[in-house]
Amino acid sequence: MIIVNEHAREFHLQTQNSSYIMKVSPSGHLLQVYYGRRLRHQSDFSALHQQFVSPISGTPCYSKAHPNFALETACVELGTSGKGDFREPALHIEHGDGSRVTDLVYKGYELHDHKVPLPDLPHAIDPNGEAQTLAITLHDTVKAVQVVLYYSVFPYVDAITRSQEVTNQGEESITLERALSFTLDFTHQNFELLSLEGKWANETQLNRRSLSKGVTSIDSKRGVSSSNHNPFLTLVEPSANENNGRCYGFALIYSGNHQAMAEVSPHGLTRVQLGINSFDFRWPLAPGEGFSTPEAVMTFSDKGLNRMSQNFHGFINRHIISPRWQNRLKPVQVNNWEATYFDFNESKLLRLAKKAKKLGVELFVLDDGWFGKRDSDSSSLGDYFDHKTKLPNGVTGIAEKIRDLGLEFGIWVEPEMISEDSELYRKHPEWAMTCPDREPSLGRNQLVLDMANPEVVGYLFAQLCDVFRRTKTSFVKWDHNRNFSDVYSRHLSKDQQHGYYHRYMLGTYDLLFRLQAEFPDILFESCSSGGNRFDMGMLFFMPQTWTSDNTDAVERMSIQYGTSLVFPLNTMGAHVSGRPSHQVLRITPIETRFNVAAFGALGYQLDLTRLTHFEERAIKEQIAWYKQHRQLLQYGRFYRLESPFESNHAQWMVVSETGEEALVGYYQKLQESNRGYERLYPQGLNVEQDYTIETRKQYMNIRQFGELVNGEIPMINLKDRGVFHGIVANRYLQEVDAEIYQLNGDALCYGGLPLKPQFNATEWTEHFRFIGDFGSRIYHIRAKDNDA
Ligand code: DGJ
Repeated sequence: MIIVNEHAREFHLQTQNSSYIMKVSPSGHLLQVYYGRRLRHQSDFSALHQQFVSPISGTPCYSKAHPNFALETACVELGTSGKGDFREPALHIEHGDGSRVTDLVYKGYELHDHKVPLPDLPHAIDPNGEAQTLAITLHDTVKAVQVVLYYSVFPYVDAITRSQEVTNQGEESITLERALSFTLDFTHQNFELLSLEGKWANETQLNRRSLSKGVTSIDSKRGVSSSNHNPFLTLVEPSANENNGRCYGFALIYSGNHQAMAEVSPHGLTRVQLGINSFDFRWPLAPGEGFSTPEAVMTFSDKGLNRMSQNFHGFINRHIISPRWQNRLKPVQVNNWEATYFDFNESKLLRLAKKAKKLGVELFVLDDGWFGKRDSDSSSLGDYFDHKTKLPNGVTGIAEKIRDLGLEFGIWVEPEMISEDSELYRKHPEWAMTCPDREPSLGRNQLVLDMANPEVVGYLFAQLCDVFRRTKTSFVKWDHNRNFSDVYSRHLSKDQQHGYYHRYMLGTYDLLFRLQAEFPDILFESCSSGGNRFDMGMLFFMPQTWTSDNTDAVERMSIQYGTSLVFPLNTMGAHVSGRPSHQVLRITPIETRFNVAAFGALGYQLDLTRLTHFEERAIKEQIAWYKQHRQLLQYGRFYRLESPFESNHAQWMVVSETGEEALVGYYQKLQESNRGYERLYPQGLNVEQDYTIETRKQYMNIRQFGELVNGEIPMINLKDRGVFHGIVANRYLQEVDAEIYQLNGDALCYGGLPLKPQFNATEWTEHFRFIGDFGSRIYHIRAKDNDA
């Protein structure tokens, strides 16, 4: 709900659990009054508003008419510079006469009973008509520049989106040197900053630190949102944890260079801002032209980080994911990448597909290497015609055969890239992102295509339409495997080069808008060497993202835990891969690989034709179980319970809307000797109900026990690593002891579930759990009335 108080010149934006309040100052500036837990509306919020009333020495006073007002100590809704605000601005303009002062004051507002769309950029949508938008117009006191601030309120997910639109209403050209999406000022500095940092194969690592005076900046200059710094940050009160405390979360709906800043001013005010990176950004606006920033979303939680994440998850599921894909179950896929890499032919793929079908897989995804003469990563990007040596019947032929097996077919492409060794490059070297007279730096042996050139976009649209149509693909994995270098477009004028990063994104988005309209039924998965472009901008077009190239189960605990801070489970591609892990050479139990991947959009990425009997049976049961619980695993309310960043364990859970059913993932890194008691504290259940808690049926490989197994199966005498030991280990499915517990909801929630102790050089009886190194369990919690 948005309440406008014209008399007091106040705006009150309410979501179910939060309030955001602004007011117009006597000087005409739009000021921030309050953001936090929802407040009852009142006719005047002036008493909440804080502002120094006498000038501080050295501080410019705003004007003679307002001698006691200083922008330096004001909480403004859009930071500009030149009139005494010395903090980082959100908008910086060079005017036609070369002056660089911008001073925005209130002009008027419009209230819309819907979400106002944002042209040419991915943006929040509102298919169920839940949102309202407040558009507040500001104008410069001297120059003919107008800024409209958009606030859209999404009440059920406690989210507000913000963006600004700047228009040059004058007769001379102006240049935007910075145009961030929003400013939010707080009158205190009692915050810590939490963000997601990382690198290839090590994405979304939590980074929490105190804020102190000065600017803390998180950004990407790589051309993509990047795995190094996700376009997201949270300000949390120092005592906040997963379940308690105030948290303010901010994320950008954008996939290119971004900049997030948290700044503590000398007077202890905290400013947070997020938007397109102003590095290498200048955007000329001719008379009459306008510029819209990407949208940022902000959410408030006074119930810790879990609630903040749930707000983001709800926002993404209801307001970012295309309506066609909202709440739809993601298919279980097999992807041939880690099974074959570039070394495949039709019969190898078909063998893989047949086995996958037998195990219950629903979708076969043909990864890199099916086109041009691509036998390694050094050629053919741009040439999306069939690799006839590998696939004599072309990709159309294999797609048909896969479908005949009863599987859906999906295909990999990397449209925004070009190989020097390609027909396309030989024909159009000027389409590559290269700088005149400089030898371009290659990344993974490839160059980036100039997506700011509409001809390139047109070419790709035609090529991709052809591939998607002739293969009747139902799934596309859209990769992007290098960051930018040699940033220059041979298509753009000199004046446009410093907006190139953004123009690149506009070109890519244009292509995606067109493909989305043409192929609404294709499920797209975004990938950028894993999670190098895991952001809401891509999710707007592609309902899931390949979370990381690192498929090792232990690494994935942290990566998925971190990713869940912003992104819901249904958006995270998560695969069971082979042994050892191709990334870290770690050997983890197949059940743990599944137990981690199950909390995501599940796939298998290993050579299924070479499974042992043990693995085959385990996988078959995993897939059947996943399908049974997929709704909950993909769309349940998610809680993080124990952080792998702080502990030898990780725990998380999903809960049904009614709180009657839940699944808890419990993971152990290394076995500890003589470990003490353990309790599991589930969240989100109903205290008044009674629950049964039971482990998912899973198996262990007796190889783990070496010769100790003879104590368990006394009639045979197996020699560790002997031939028979191997045969038995590969065929024999030792069921992990079932754990069953019964507890009332209040006891469970308040007291926690006392788990059986772990094996400790003791006898192996039903009184112990044997978890071992990299072991795990999934606990299924059901309200007793639902036990049937
Ligand atoms: C990088 C991706 O992240 C991998 O999953 C795979 O698709 C390769 N590219 C293929 O080149």
